[in-house]
Amino acid sequence: MLPAIAHRLVSKGRKSLARESSDGMGTNRKADNVPWWERSVIYQVYPRSFQDSDGDGVGDLAGIERRLDYLVTLGVDAIWLSPIFPSPMADFGYDVADYCGVDPLFGDLAGFDHLLAAAHARGLKLLLDFVPNHSSDRHPWFVESRSSRASPKRDWYIWRDPAPNGGPPNNWTSDMGGPAWEYDPAPGQYYLHAFLKEQPDLNWRNPEVRAAMTDVLRFWLDRGVDGFRIDVLWHIVKAEGLPDNPPNPDYRAELGEKHKVLQLNSANQPEVHEMAAAFRALADSYGERLLVGEIVLPVETLMDYYGRGAPGVHLPSNFQLIEAPWDAAALAALIAAYEAALPPGGWPNWVIGSHDYPRIAARLGEAQARIAAMLLLTLRGTPTLYQGDELGIGDVTIPPDRVRDPQDLRQPGLGLGRDRSRTPMPWVSSAFAGFSTVEPWLPLNEDWRARNVAAQEGDPRSMLALYRSLLALRRSSEALAIGDFALVPADRDVLAYERRHREERLLVALNLSSERRTLRLPTGAELLVSTRDMRPPDGSLAPDEGLVLRVLP
Ligand code: GLC
Ligand code: MG
Repeated sequence: MLPAIAHRLVSKGRKSLARESSDGMGTNRKADNVPWWERSVIYQVYPRSFQDSDGDGVGDLAGIERRLDYLVTLGVDAIWLSPIFPSPMADFGYDVADYCGVDPLFGDLAGFDHLLAAAHARGLKLLLDFVPNHSSDRHPWFVESRSSRASPKRDWYIWRDPAPNGGPPNNWTSDMGGPAWEYDPAPGQYYLHAFLKEQPDLNWRNPEVRAAMTDVLRFWLDRGVDGFRIDVLWHIVKAEGLPDNPPNPDYRAELGEKHKVLQLNSANQPEVHEMAAAFRALADSYGERLLVGEIVLPVETLMDYYGRGAPGVHLPSNFQLIEAPWDAAALAALIAAYEAALPPGGWPNWVIGSHDYPRIAARLGEAQARIAAMLLLTLRGTPTLYQGDELGIGDVTIPPDRVRDPQDLRQPGLGLGRDRSRTPMPWVSSAFAGFSTVEPWLPLNEDWRARNVAAQEGDPRSMLALYRSLLALRRSSEALAIGDFALVPADRDVLAYERRHREERLLVALNLSSERRTLRLPTGAELLVSTRDMRPPDGSLAPDEGLVLRVLP
């Protein structure tokens, strides 16, 4: 039903594509021949928790391959895999011991090639997670580096003598709590780790490190990957001389020790843009390969990562919706400010979930999580969906004896645990939700018997059905995929905007409250997708109702 309505729009929206140029907020400068990633929806797969195929309770590459058709039916265009490389798993793969391999837990290189070919055969792009800031402490580079002060790889990592009092060389704190320095008694020096001590920071000021990492990127680009998500890109260069960070005047213990200081000297240094430009030049030399940069910084600073002079990453991740107050006026202001801050030619992107943040449905509840889905998939820019959000998985209680996240284990009780967003995908209502044949590495969502893919596939009112309708509509609508964006004045608690491409006009109206609100309708509007029931549009929005309407000419 809904997809059928969406498909009617296809024929209309697709017919005219011509070069167009315009300026100002929320507009396209090039309306046709846009690169694939501007039209795409990215889906983040957390490989440990997507599908197990060998009965060890942990997801793997063969499992992902088995579920590719699910992703095709869902309607996404590209998959980003969190790290699959050999790793001691201190940070579940974000501690890489070999950048050019596959951890046996997940499969092997041949299995990866098979998965990539299977994805491409279905028209899906595949991105890998590139982790340049730090390796594992078991990486042969670090093993060599720590072997002696005279090691040829000593300077590949960041080693410093103790402070005069014998303590760490400066006041930097680790994002995972505690000092960012670990003392290594043998050579009597400290090494820097922005995250766990098992994740020593590489020295990006060393040209040999840059060359080695270029080889890593080439290794995967030559195999045919469509790009990378770059882990903590803004961290890779530190201020020369490693000066102390200023103390954070707003620090409270509940925030975690990461926030004791402001990361002014330990991250976001001007030289990072040279590194990003080099990644980009390399990606461009392979044709249309996408770079998504993980950057958690305020909007103005984030924009620098599109490139200062030379192009930087294509998409500096925009995490604002994850922490923004769920309030129509605040969201409207945030969206307008983001659109206005974009550099010329900078393509927007939006995120509402990842393996690092609480689930959107846990934060907002199911009714507003449906609104969030509609928002994410109708804003201008490339959306990234996180696995399981399309089922509306909410908060999952992780019993204390099953906590695995090092961030939680190191700073318990602060609510910093990420396991609750990393639980296995529930596929069916039978044993272990079809994820595995044994107890999975993390518990399933408590409501998995009812909240799973099979159950939602049979229910036209499910979250999954809503996601599919929105994705089908987006795929068929030039206005949603690449059209202009403009906010529309609306009733209190209502976020409304128009997407427009040539003669195609769509109105999106989202009621962020649980009360009825009015909606000023243009004359002639056809309802395409609703977060609630399909109905003839009138001058109102039901509680928690979000609508996508076609404005008739
Ligand atoms: C990124 C990852 C996170 C990881 C950290 C260190 O933020 O998303 O999961 O712990 O980098 O690599
Ligand atoms: Mg497995």
